Amino acid sequence: MTYLLGVDLGTSGTKTVLFDESGRAVASATVEYPLHQPKNGWAEQDPEDWWQATCTTVREVLEASSVDPANVACLGISGQMHGLVLTDDDGNVLRRSILWCDGRTGDECDDLTRRIGKERLIAISANPALTGFTAGKILWVQGHEPEVWAKAKHILLPKDYVRYRLTGLFASEMSDASGTNMLDVPNRRWSEEIAGAMDVPMGMLPELYEASDVVGHITAEAAKLTGLREGMPVCGGAADNMAGAIGTGVAEVGKAFTTIGTSGVVYAHADSVQIDPEGRVHTFCSAVPGAYTVMSCTLSAGLSLKWFRDQFAGAEIETAKLMGTDPYVLMNEEAAKSPIGANRLLFLPYLMGERSPLLDSNARGAFIGLSAMHTRRDLLRAVTEGVMYSQRQNLDILRGMQVVPQSMLACGGGAKSPFWRQMMADIFGMPVKTVQNTEGPALGAAILAGTAVGLYSTVPDACRTMIQESDPLLPDQARSEAYEPFFQLYTSLYPSLKDAYACLASM
Ligand code: XUL
Repeated sequence: MTYLLGVDLGTSGTKTVLFDESGRAVASATVEYPLHQPKNGWAEQDPEDWWQATCTTVREVLEASSVDPANVACLGISGQMHGLVLTDDDGNVLRRSILWCDGRTGDECDDLTRRIGKERLIAISANPALTGFTAGKILWVQGHEPEVWAKAKHILLPKDYVRYRLTGLFASEMSDASGTNMLDVPNRRWSEEIAGAMDVPMGMLPELYEASDVVGHITAEAAKLTGLREGMPVCGGAADNMAGAIGTGVAEVGKAFTTIGTSGVVYAHADSVQIDPEGRVHTFCSAVPGAYTVMSCTLSAGLSLKWFRDQFAGAEIETAKLMGTDPYVLMNEEAAKSPIGANRLLFLPYLMGERSPLLDSNARGAFIGLSAMHTRRDLLRAVTEGVMYSQRQNLDILRGMQVVPQSMLACGGGAKSPFWRQMMADIFGMPVKTVQNTEGPALGAAILAGTAVGLYSTVPDACRTMIQESDPLLPDQARSEAYEPFFQLYTSLYPSLKDAYACLASM
């Protein structure tokens, strides 16, 4: 039997899963690590923590499964996007990595936009300058830590740093590189124009591959630390969302998924590059060679529910403990008792500012229509609906770009709840399905690894044979019609509040 390793380098921890060639998980291990927040709005991690977590989890799955390392054919890595890792000539890390959720680079993004021009930047990198993306972080180090920048010789993304430790090679691949603001996305190569305008020598950027290419091989040193076989191939791997797409079978036109995790992602596959000229949603290279994706990222999807749980759902937390269940199960039961429209109450889920589609870090949450007759149950229903309306608003932007999914796969924590899935079908007005395998990004990374060494002929072929979708849950027309006027009103609220948010931020 041949096995494949998928390593998923997340923000809360690294999860490594060993799969057999049919995609069945045979062993899994997770190691968590800290998120450093030295200032309000900053977020950093130590790349050494990622490396140690990789070594530990790989050793653990090999031991737990008793699989002979000689039978592991290839390793794929999926990783949190956008984080900046800087190393010197010898690969020594020069400072902690500045992460995707770090918001310190507002001025640098304005500067980048001035240097290139907004339209030109979107035409090349397929996205406007965004605080989460890597380019702003590079400009920030240049401006605030010139002594660090002077020593920097290599720029890497989080998973690419781990690959460097595994193989000794400075390499990246198209899907993750798309999140730097420095890739010429339509032409799948680094943009000399953008790098030049940023004073970044081209030699600092890693060599680019497709996600399912073999990039390098396990070094003797890495073999000693992980238990893997020296010389075992390592493939390009992919950014977490793109690897997650492969792991849920979203690898051909018409397929899409929505994840309600901390953030909310609506992700659709596209065969050709489609760019929103306003930059409201992201265009990235897909992990399918030559293909693309259009996706949105809202910052407080599951986070809004978590906020409500932690602040107002003490009763559910206590009861859930006694019942041995999850507080969210009880919260969903409560929300389901309030009618559609939550007795005329709307919630805007912008607790951390908003990325797609508003691009406004000053935006904040709001309840609109609050009355003395409202109960906690109505508030909970409004939060749940507001999170789903924010995904629908992004889905409508995709549809307007002629990226029109036929059905939606529901992933992440929200996908477990029938209440959420039905609400998604009704508000999106389309069939909603799930997949059995919930290993998403780790399975996607393993599928890429299997394709790299020729176990599967193409990535979409592997997805077709390995990933089974459930029967579709259909939208209920009467409920869809009941949600619609509330959704329309929801989309009109941010424009009327925009100035108030800016004013509040300046106070
Ligand atoms: C995508 C994004 C997040 C991170 C989370 O643009 O910022 O989904 O990839 O790991």
